[in-house]
Amino acid sequence: MQLFYSAASPYVRKVMVLAHETGLVDRLELVTTTVAPTLVNADVAAENPLVKVPTLVRDGDGASLFDSRVIAEYLDTLHGGRRLFPAEGAARWTALRRQAIADGVLDAAVLTRYETFLRPEPQRWPAWIDGQFRKIRQALAALAAEGLDEELTIGEIAAGCALGYLDFRFPEENWRAAHPALAAWYARIAERPSFLATWPKG
Ligand code: BEZ
Repeated sequence: MQLFYSAASPYVRKVMVLAHETGLVDRLELVTTTVAPTLVNADVAAENPLVKVPTLVRDGDGASLFDSRVIAEYLDTLHGGRRLFPAEGAARWTALRRQAIADGVLDAAVLTRYETFLRPEPQRWPAWIDGQFRKIRQALAALAAEGLDEELTIGEIAAGCALGYLDFRFPEENWRAAHPALAAWYARIAERPSFLATWPKG
């Protein structure tokens, strides 16, 4: 399977952590690429009209899958171990809610990264940036209240990737001070080989 890949993308990282945890990583052929709202990328556009990473091109039928949620759930059907997307019941909805909160942190953080890095300084909008940080802080409080587990599901994977992205791009955001239990959970998760092997770069 081909995976359009960027080593800085936290959404790619979700997929890669799951691939490491499930023993599928060697089945992924990584195609390194650069996507951004200001760039044309014909290779990714040919597979994904939204021109985003991760995009997966399946073996066999060559069908493409996106976004990170869909790719991760697809990969989770390809191994024989414990499912990281619980099949049903309360465990499934808990995992998906945690993923939704963490992906919301990522959405706000990535938009803020574009606003503060890509957008020319005179066009930046401080109130909009403040609003994104408000979402991030409220969502971190919700993640802290979840009482994240040591046994991974897609919810914990997404949460670990969201916290890692904050450390990577917004190290000045001292989220640990407000959430010491979440920080202790993250310190343990971040030591797993799957997280160590996928620390963002770029
Ligand atoms: C980043 O460089 O922060 C980034 C790259 C790809 C997707 C999202 C964020």
